[in-house]
Amino acid sequence: MNSIISKINFELKKVFKEHGFDEAQAYISISNRPELADYQINSCFNIAKSIKKNPVEVAGEVADLIKDLNIDGVNAFTKCESCPPGFVNLKLNDELLFLSTNDILSADDLGISGTDILPEDAPRCILLDYGGANVAKPLHVGHLRVAVIGEALKRLYQRLGIKTISDVHLGDFGLQMGLVIEQLKDDNMLDNFTIADLETIYPKASLRAKGDKTKNIEPDLEFNERAHEATKKLQNNVEPETSIWKKILKISIDDLKVRYAALNVFFDYYFGESTVKDIMGPMVDEMIKNGIAYESEGAYVVDVKQDSDKKEMPPCIVRKSDGAVLYATSDLATIKFREENFDADEYVYVVDKRQSLHLEQCFRAAKKAGLLKRDKKFYHVAVGTMNGADGKPFKSRDGGVVKLETLINDAKVKALKQLKENERDLSGLNEDEIAEKISIAALKYGDLSNSPTRDYVFDIEKFLSFQGNTGPYILYTLVRIKSIFDKLGSHKVDTKLGADCDDIVHNIFLKAIRYADILMDAYKNYDTSIICKYIYELSNDFNSFYHEHNIINEIDENKKSLYIMICNIVDRIIRDSLNILAIEIPERM
Ligand code: ARG
Repeated sequence: MNSIISKINFELKKVFKEHGFDEAQAYISISNRPELADYQINSCFNIAKSIKKNPVEVAGEVADLIKDLNIDGVNAFTKCESCPPGFVNLKLNDELLFLSTNDILSADDLGISGTDILPEDAPRCILLDYGGANVAKPLHVGHLRVAVIGEALKRLYQRLGIKTISDVHLGDFGLQMGLVIEQLKDDNMLDNFTIADLETIYPKASLRAKGDKTKNIEPDLEFNERAHEATKKLQNNVEPETSIWKKILKISIDDLKVRYAALNVFFDYYFGESTVKDIMGPMVDEMIKNGIAYESEGAYVVDVKQDSDKKEMPPCIVRKSDGAVLYATSDLATIKFREENFDADEYVYVVDKRQSLHLEQCFRAAKKAGLLKRDKKFYHVAVGTMNGADGKPFKSRDGGVVKLETLINDAKVKALKQLKENERDLSGLNEDEIAEKISIAALKYGDLSNSPTRDYVFDIEKFLSFQGNTGPYILYTLVRIKSIFDKLGSHKVDTKLGADCDDIVHNIFLKAIRYADILMDAYKNYDTSIICKYIYELSNDFNSFYHEHNIINEIDENKKSLYIMICNIVDRIIRDSLNILAIEIPERM
């Protein structure tokens, strides 16, 4: 479906061409003075410059040329005026907005089908690397953002008609596994261990290996040595270590799937660093043979520095002097594996920003080593940190890492308390389920409403509030609309615009016709907070509309059908958006 804005731009181009103005300048932009205009033309300055005329004069000419522009049989503008120093201010005709909103409403996909809005060179398939959980370690708050943002981006791509492949890329290899295996042996737990055991075993083993000066704990060197040995054995598929490791992996992955599902996060693949364990060695050998990797102080490295670099770009180490592989080796081999098994046009990594250098080194080394079948874009969505009130990465009261489970439970307890305090009528419904949905929505929305790359302060009281740019506020708007629909029963909606639109209705129409552009904006900027901001503003508009109009008791049928249409479009767009953001909606709250 073509939006009215693209139809207007199309007509504008024709007019500009006929008049000898540069066609590339024929587009309207959202006005930055909404009290004066809906849209404006900013390009009269450029045109004036190229034809050596006064911009106001050009703006006057342009306004004259387009004031009677007709779209779908309707006059496009109710206001089309030049304005110093050289803008053209435009107000769209309500009739046109109404028709366009109706088109959107009558389409199952709200008129957004990828083929129409995606540029021709857009990728057809994107592989997303997000989640990044580590086996045998509990998910902690640092894993929330990357999971939540990655899932939303994935759904946004799908919504725009782009195929996706999603991989959690588990940290399931390396010394951490050797440590856990040896500790399980020492504790005589090989035959019988659960996920809860694993969660205590890793910190125990890690403390034992590293020691802790502040607590006067010496590192256990013998244990450390054994853990390294066990890790090496895994690399070479030696038993029984390999079987123990497989068991740990199975228990961990089963648990992770449940925890991610609770966040409404799902992956196509639970591949990990270990998936490529047999690829790494030969890949590095090949890189050495081709002269891509060379020896430096006993290790093997790949130079990735470019002349244009402003920041330091050290070589990428692919093999340590003792022959061991590193994090970068597994990421490189993963790229090779993905190229061999999938055909993505672009790679999107949703990973903590503190791994930017590592990823940039890997992306460059991969291109240099010819691991890509053809030139492709790598993009790192460099995710900012979730901070505590002190502005430092969020920690528990005793300074430790906060488990995601704890965070979710605390939020749920608070949501339940809030429901009780507000004495909401939830009769016949499962309060616990509603509190769960509200708390997850609050956490996820609190996260998603901040630009991915920005750090943000975790403030559960604020996130749970029914006021402001929060998950509960958005959900409440939908619940409100649902209750209107319930009270109305089935009501026939007239599809003519029989009533005058006031400013609030006009603004809701204007937002509705922008939905596709908002999704495109979020897509281009890898930024789902753009969608949050939009549905927040739409909810605000709707709630003012709700307070100004008595929808249920309106006796003028024309007005009533217009109001129902408003409820419908707001409901459909917010639901669609929340589906992209992977946020579930309670029946009532
Ligand atoms: N497991 C890693 C961590 O917890 C994150 C993995 C990110 N993805 C990647 N391809 N390196 O830090």
